[in-house]
Amino acid sequence: MIRIVRFFQIAFCMQFILTALPVSAVDFTAAEKRKILRHGPWPLPATPDPSNRVSGNPAAVAFGRVLFFDTRLSTSGSVSCATCHRPDAGWTDGRARSRGQRAVDRNALSLFNLRFNRWFGWDGAQDSLWAQNLRPLLDRREMGIGAAGAARLVRADRSLSCHYRLVFGTAPGADDDRVFVDLGKALAAFLETLVTGRTPFDDFRDALAGNDAAGRARYPAAAKRGLRLFVGRGNCAFCHFGPAFTNGEFADAGVPHFAGPGRADPGRFGGIRKLRKSPYTLLGRFNDDPTRSTAVKTRHVRLAHSNFGEFRVPGLRNAALTGPYMHAGSLKTLADTIRHYSTLDEERLHAGGERILRRLDLSGREQADLVAFLDTLTEAESGPKVEVKSEDLFCR
Ligand code: HEC
Ligand code: HEC
Repeated sequence: MIRIVRFFQIAFCMQFILTALPVSAVDFTAAEKRKILRHGPWPLPATPDPSNRVSGNPAAVAFGRVLFFDTRLSTSGSVSCATCHRPDAGWTDGRARSRGQRAVDRNALSLFNLRFNRWFGWDGAQDSLWAQNLRPLLDRREMGIGAAGAARLVRADRSLSCHYRLVFGTAPGADDDRVFVDLGKALAAFLETLVTGRTPFDDFRDALAGNDAAGRARYPAAAKRGLRLFVGRGNCAFCHFGPAFTNGEFADAGVPHFAGPGRADPGRFGGIRKLRKSPYTLLGRFNDDPTRSTAVKTRHVRLAHSNFGEFRVPGLRNAALTGPYMHAGSLKTLADTIRHYSTLDEERLHAGGERILRRLDLSGREQADLVAFLDTLTEAESGPKVEVKSEDLFCR
């Protein structure tokens, strides 16, 4: 008996020594280091969106901010963009599936780092940020005011038409669609400003790049072990690639995709179909980029069956603030998402997915390490970044 107790005591001590080893115990190989460095530097340089002539314009940022909180853009008069994208909840609504005027099928995406996206929405049905902003205004489940209704409101309201004139240089004209798209562009100018700040991971990554031992030592050991899994055995970085932790494309992550009983969410497959039918794409008359180089990606989109059930790879910066997770909010916490990857059913993965994603069978500690790593992607000072500026007051 004593022997057994002794064995457990020794085992316990060993475990303690292993977990309490100095941080230098997690030293990265040259190959790992190269992979880690690819997730920075951060923040990325911000360039204006050539498809939006008011991108970066401070008056447009102010107009967009006003529009974002205006419930008159919904037919019921009670829903604004902020209903589902709350600044104090990581720009989401905390629900599994969103609810505006009625319930929708998907989880509200957060609005961080949008300016670096190639595609918008879980299914990439929009190819620009300004077009994405029009979608809730058209969908009756969300706000549903429509192009004509929105244009009418802006023409009739003294404050909104004042903002419009300040941004676009003329009073809102007779072309409903043109005024409507301009609202999407002002909203885009505002949303482009929501870039996440520096995180403990960024400090570590730069310390690794600069060979700063003291800086490296400040990063928690559990996060280092999680990071090693992320770029290594977990293969997470294959899809969650680069400084924003997304390759910007679509994949099947093995998440069931039912929109409701007996109804599948087609994901990217449906997104490509919607994109092709939309008048508001970069191929249409509302793209302000005279060179049309922005439209190349849209011109090359092809519909394939393998797109069925694929969803956009979300960026992971500030992910700790934006649960529940996945396109229909099926997983509540970050720990649940890691458990998903650890236990996923490989049989369900379709074309391509199975070569990249494997059931990881992670131990409890490995799962906790991955969560510890994801937590270090949270900016130090997050919180509502919506301040009232003098431009906002100009048109009151
Ligand atoms: C009913 C709740 C609801 C309302 C109201 C709403 N959204 Fe959303 N938003 C969502 C959902 C759900 C998604 C994911 C949609 C999808 O992929 O099908 C989303 C996605 C987005 C995205 C895409 C983010 C990305 O990473 O691709 C942007 C941008 C956005 N919304 C902006 C807005 C703006 C601007 C408004 C107001 C004009 C608005 N939303 C109103 C629920 C809402
Ligand atoms: C094959 C590409 C791929 C790989 C590999 C991958 N992911 Fe994902 N990840 C996705 C996609 C796609 C989604 C969204 C899936 C959905 O909603 O159906 C996602 C969603 C997530 C989310 C939820 C984010 C949110 O805002 O909802 C987290 C967290 C996450 N992945 C972490 C990881 C980790 C950690 C690993 C490695 C263990 C990993 N991913 C490996 C493609 C991938």
